[in-house]
Amino acid sequence: MRKIYVSITLILCLGVSVLKAQERIPEVEELLSKMTLEEKIGQLNLLTPGGGVATGSVVSEDVEAKIKAGNVGGVFGVSSPEKVRQAQEIAVKSSRLGIPLLIGSDIIHGYKTTYPIPLGLSSSWDMELIKQGAQMAAKEATADGINWNFSPMVDIARDPRWGRIAEGAGEDPYLGSQIAKAMVEGYQGEDLTLPATMMATVKHMALYGAPEAGRDYNSVDMSRLKMFNEYLPPYKAAVDAGVGSVMTSFNDIDGIPASGNKWLLTDLLRERWGFGGFVVSDYTSVNEMIAHGMGDLQAVSAMAINAGLDMDMVGEGFLTTLKKSVEEGKVSEEQITKATRRILEAKHKLGLLKDPYLYSDESRPEKDILTAENRQLARKAATRSFVLLKKHDNTLPLAKSAKIALVGPLANNKNNMLGTWAPTGNPELSVPILEGIKNVAPKANIQYAKGANISNDTSFAKKVNVFGPRVQIADESPEALLKEALDLAKNSDVIVAVVGEATEMSGEAASRTDITIPDSQKKLINELAKTGKPVVLVLMSGRPLDISEEMSLPVNILQVWHPGVEAGNAVADVLFGDYNPSGKLTNSWPRNVGQIPIHYRMKTTGRPGPESGEFQKFKSNYLDSPNSPLLPFGYGLSYTTFEYTDVKASSGSLNANGSIELSATVTNTGDYDGEEVVQLYIHDKVRSVTPPGKELKGFQKIALKKGESKKVNFKVTAEDLKFYNSQLEYVFEPGEFEFFIAGSSDADFNGSFNLKK
Ligand code: BGC
Repeated sequence: MRKIYVSITLILCLGVSVLKAQERIPEVEELLSKMTLEEKIGQLNLLTPGGGVATGSVVSEDVEAKIKAGNVGGVFGVSSPEKVRQAQEIAVKSSRLGIPLLIGSDIIHGYKTTYPIPLGLSSSWDMELIKQGAQMAAKEATADGINWNFSPMVDIARDPRWGRIAEGAGEDPYLGSQIAKAMVEGYQGEDLTLPATMMATVKHMALYGAPEAGRDYNSVDMSRLKMFNEYLPPYKAAVDAGVGSVMTSFNDIDGIPASGNKWLLTDLLRERWGFGGFVVSDYTSVNEMIAHGMGDLQAVSAMAINAGLDMDMVGEGFLTTLKKSVEEGKVSEEQITKATRRILEAKHKLGLLKDPYLYSDESRPEKDILTAENRQLARKAATRSFVLLKKHDNTLPLAKSAKIALVGPLANNKNNMLGTWAPTGNPELSVPILEGIKNVAPKANIQYAKGANISNDTSFAKKVNVFGPRVQIADESPEALLKEALDLAKNSDVIVAVVGEATEMSGEAASRTDITIPDSQKKLINELAKTGKPVVLVLMSGRPLDISEEMSLPVNILQVWHPGVEAGNAVADVLFGDYNPSGKLTNSWPRNVGQIPIHYRMKTTGRPGPESGEFQKFKSNYLDSPNSPLLPFGYGLSYTTFEYTDVKASSGSLNANGSIELSATVTNTGDYDGEEVVQLYIHDKVRSVTPPGKELKGFQKIALKKGESKKVNFKVTAEDLKFYNSQLEYVFEPGEFEFFIAGSSDADFNGSFNLKK
């Protein structure tokens, strides 16, 4: 067996952050010394007076009286400087110790200026843009009184049946970690006491993205090795970036619900990772431990606080039972003091202990919210999130003078542009695709027809319309809708069909077992393809879809997710070539649901499926489907083309304390200027635990003029080649590594180097 090198950096870093976490803040200690047990428990209580989105069955009651009694540490679902000032006044003037409140909110993709859904934004692979988006969201939200955000959601997800895949950054731990860091840095800035920064919450710790069968809130069962190597890195990256709080997940981990899991919240998060902030439960997730089979409310609340959970969201289990548990010796007062200290420290970090009204500046909303500059950034972000999935017959980009038949249920629709988890956005302010096309190409001749309903199924529509009319079934028959669209199509130069999922077909509690485009729209798409006219499908969804059928049609496909408030303008910018699409998928798109869970980082197995894709008996493959996805991770086309040449390593060997350069020359070989996400993948050929077939280790987004070439370098050190071994030590192991540099994960290895001891 090869020798193993354990990192001492980890131990050193750990030591430093543990020390940091132990530093005491005089104002906090003074407050603590004055607090009764009840007041300490009060700080651990997070309530929502309603007005926001209630994702559980409970909404808090008598919030004002509870704040006055010192029974509340924070609230969410309250916004505007005036309302926040009122809430803070109640806390500061009417409670005995006058401790201000944390004011939380879910600002998942922009505040009032709604961005593309996070899965879309991740497809930009543009860390600076993602960070800027988080900064802009912080500026808008804090202008409206909010100081604490329940984002970023960094759950690795490889199962597109799960609706919340929309809220994350896809399937890969490396990319997911970079995005987690960018978002935390964007929200929190350099100094949390500045009024335009807010505290971030990394969620949902942990493994929420791997529920069995893709059904939301379902159980998760996973080996520690898989957790450490594949699912935990983004949470850790957020902790390393200094995230202020961590939210637990609804699922169990090794048979223990996350909100009561001591291994997770104390051994791993605090002791191993050195996290010094506070941990908040998810919405009533402490109470839900009763249904998980962990005992009654007193038992689960005691279990949660003893595990290391500091704040109880909405369920009031802490408020109503912890005192009794202390009296009965089931929870120590010291445990409660520790949790209270962490909440007070957060308030100190935010500057609230000095100025409770720091986020109640009435002049800010007008200056900071929904400004032209913010909308411009949202438009840019949307264009960067789009992924060109299929090109056909040089239809794209469109001429600005074209005669266009614009059809589809999402073509002139404001209700579905913002995407899931955008309760702070206003659908009425969003730009529909029809309007965007008119803005960008005023000389184009555009005719519009709906063509189809998102779904013809009234009972399905009812389930999806919980937050507003997302699926509206027209009075006309499906046949009449279709005929109208086909009549327009016949008289046009080109057909643009905007189709896909309504907003609430993804997101929380929106899992699907069938991830195809609904039948009502498939019919329209098939008929349009038969007209012989050039067709562009503009596809909206909150998840990877099974579009095997559509990929085989003679059409172009541009994936635009749910693009946000500037949807129409951004789609038009790309359709007419003002921006050349550069997004790359951050999930593998399956050929069928039977392949799920599917991701590019799979292990080879002892009996790898044949490379030809042809079925072979006694190999790891299917009788009725290839192993490969329909569209691989990292995939995305451009109006131009890129060629990769001269892929090489600066040396055949890498010393343990040295570095090596892996490089490629990338040339824009097509007819348009464009941007390319250059990706580096490696394969550790021999390891003490079975390695993935390939792993993303670096990426760079570059701009290339038509005909231009650039050399792209990746500096690699032994640190970059580490993984967790079976003892869960973070190590590298000497030996041969293969690599490739390409524009997608499905390329062949074309270089190698040796890592020396
Ligand atoms: C979600 C969280 C969210 C919380 C508060 C829950 O249902 O899982 O992501 O932060 O509600 O709105």
